[in-house]
Amino acid sequence: MADLFSDLSLRDLEIPNRLAVSPMCQYSCDTDGLPTEWHRVHLGSRAVGGAGIVMTEATAVEPRGRITPHDLGIWSDEHAEALQPITEFIRDQGGVPGIQLAHAGHKGSKTRPWDGNVPVSPDETDPDGAEGYEVLSPSPDAYPPFAGDRPAMRKADQDDIEGVIDAYRAAAERSLEAGFEIAEVHAAHGYLLHEFLSPVTNDRDDDYGGSFENRTRLVREVVRAVRDVWPDEKPVFVRISGTDWLENRESWDIDQSVRLAGDLADLGVDLLDVSSGGLHPDQRVPGGPNFQVPLAEAVREGTDDLAVGAVGGVTEPEQADALVRNGRADLVLVGREFLRDPYFGLRAAGELEDDAAQEWPVQYRRAVQR
Ligand code: FNR
Repeated sequence: MADLFSDLSLRDLEIPNRLAVSPMCQYSCDTDGLPTEWHRVHLGSRAVGGAGIVMTEATAVEPRGRITPHDLGIWSDEHAEALQPITEFIRDQGGVPGIQLAHAGHKGSKTRPWDGNVPVSPDETDPDGAEGYEVLSPSPDAYPPFAGDRPAMRKADQDDIEGVIDAYRAAAERSLEAGFEIAEVHAAHGYLLHEFLSPVTNDRDDDYGGSFENRTRLVREVVRAVRDVWPDEKPVFVRISGTDWLENRESWDIDQSVRLAGDLADLGVDLLDVSSGGLHPDQRVPGGPNFQVPLAEAVREGTDDLAVGAVGGVTEPEQADALVRNGRADLVLVGREFLRDPYFGLRAAGELEDDAAQEWPVQYRRAVQR
């Protein structure tokens, strides 16, 4: 049996293999955050294709937490009801449905990537006529000099912060109603929680800025709220950026990530999904195969109480299998290769000569094995 196709047990959840579809925004809602046929087919076909976990895209916990007006959301019961058939379908295919709970912070209210990814202010509309909105920032003055205009930003006050924590808690409750088995808190890629973590984007002088303890407070409070309502038998993941990839300035780095991992384990987080960057345009990201794996490895070596997910530049079955076999990660998340090939999981099982290669859906099985 290939290591990639061994079970992963987290709390009472049995994940059938170590391969997950990494969260990927589709920008394919109307303006109500409700899933469309696109989401059903996109997520459903990757479940058919043998992924152990199918994670939704960044799903906004409140409307101003969307990257674009076309992002998926989970801020009402209607959203939970609309997502339920998708989780049921993923489960019917033998996969585990996960949801990435997100707040875009000051990277919100943009046009879609194919429309230029530029800020849309509250009195403007995007090319589809969707209205912009005010976005939330820990420190508007520390907003990094991205190309294009500044978005309309509001500095998060105590009420906003409590509102964000409540929104995460309510989103987790609704995710459970919708049938998700894993809740992942998105604290990476320069979005709200990462903006609080990094001294580059957080120059607050209250309880949420300054020291490591203060900058990590919001993430810890959000995780505590999610863990409070998420059942004991189901796992919580957190995605972080292991580093900002910035040199010669105070920033978020791997040492702080390892320290945070320990704190998150204490709060009942089961897996840390280690990505990187996304905070500042000066970042120097190495890229290439396995480019973020050393960050995941550092967390895995630095914390005993937490499983670790590696992501980034994984395209080959043998490469993914080696990450698990060599103890570099407990879970491998794959993004773009799952876009190129929704059946990457079944293809990987075939190339690795694992029995999971027999698990083509019954509708296809006899035909593909002829
Ligand atoms: C992403 N990525 C991403 N990450 C995340 O945490 N939440 C998200 O919603 C998105 N959205 C998204 C959309 C698209 C189209 C891509 C290609 C990527 C990042 C993604 O999950 C993954 O970490 C990276 O793509 C690196 O992995 P790969 O693609 O090299 O396997």
